[in-house]
Amino acid sequence: MTEKATVDLTGAAQTMLTTLYLKALDAGFERPVLGDGFAERAIERLDYDWRDLGISKRWAPLVTVRTAQYDAWARDFLAAHDRATVVHLGCGLDCRVQRLDPGPGVEWYDVDYPEVIALREQIYPARPGYHLVATSATDPSWLDEIPADRPTLLLAEGISMYLTADQGAELLRHVVDRFPSGEVQIDFYNSFAIRSQKAHTLNRKTGSTLYWAVDGPADVLNRVQGIRLLAAVPFFDADTFGPTSKGFHAVRRLSRLVPPVRKALQYHRYAF
Ligand SMILES: C[S@@+](CC[C@H](N)C(=O)[O-])C[C@H]1O[C@@H](n2cnc3c(N)ncnc32)[C@H](O)[C@@H]1O
Repeated sequence: MTEKATVDLTGAAQTMLTTLYLKALDAGFERPVLGDGFAERAIERLDYDWRDLGISKRWAPLVTVRTAQYDAWARDFLAAHDRATVVHLGCGLDCRVQRLDPGPGVEWYDVDYPEVIALREQIYPARPGYHLVATSATDPSWLDEIPADRPTLLLAEGISMYLTADQGAELLRHVVDRFPSGEVQIDFYNSFAIRSQKAHTLNRKTGSTLYWAVDGPADVLNRVQGIRLLAAVPFFDADTFGPTSKGFHAVRRLSRLVPPVRKALQYHRYAF
């Protein structure tokens, strides 16, 4: 793997470069939130000028607090089910399968647009029980290709906002109908975050549009039958927030005064 992979992405697919890069920067911190050495090595394998993202290391917690939270929940799920399926939707170039290193009873599916999956194939090695699915999440047929023979975790981090509410709810209903039991671990922007999307550098730079706003678990429970809420945690209240900078902790205190800001990004966990 000496030759670097060429990166040619636009829109929503391009957003995963920022999340990967911030994870790589976090890995170099004295007190990292995630400490993902796989991400640090991955950015070296891509032929890309990372300065083009226009983002600096101080913003890393915006991504790593979330990723560390979903790693913790996914670990819980895998600890309870040594035979399981993981469907990691909108995986981007995230190294979760390497970080969690699941056991031999786990079949893991990383799912994203074909251009993103093609990059994964170039920069990451194959591993037993690991599969790539190149598709749009909104294609109704891809889920039916995944065996429904064991408890299933649908982990969708950083993708719901690129779907419309109808597409997202339909996808979740399809998961609940298809698999015997499991969990949905998914994050959402609220209405305030969706309305203020023009202020987000990431969306401006990639030309991506955000759609699905979820203000609380009721918005999901009302549209998807057969799921039960296990947890709903705003970004600022995540257990994984601890090692972030003093600046982030100051913003966290201020956010408590403005509920729409405090709940701008929420981590939800459901059982079915
Ligand atoms: C913000 S990135 C997050 C990537 C990764 N989950 C992470 O946290 O690093 C959003 C990802 O969702 C993917 N995505 C967005 N809409 C999608 C769709 N309709 N079908 C498949 N993937 C999609 C993008 O290609 C991108 O990889």
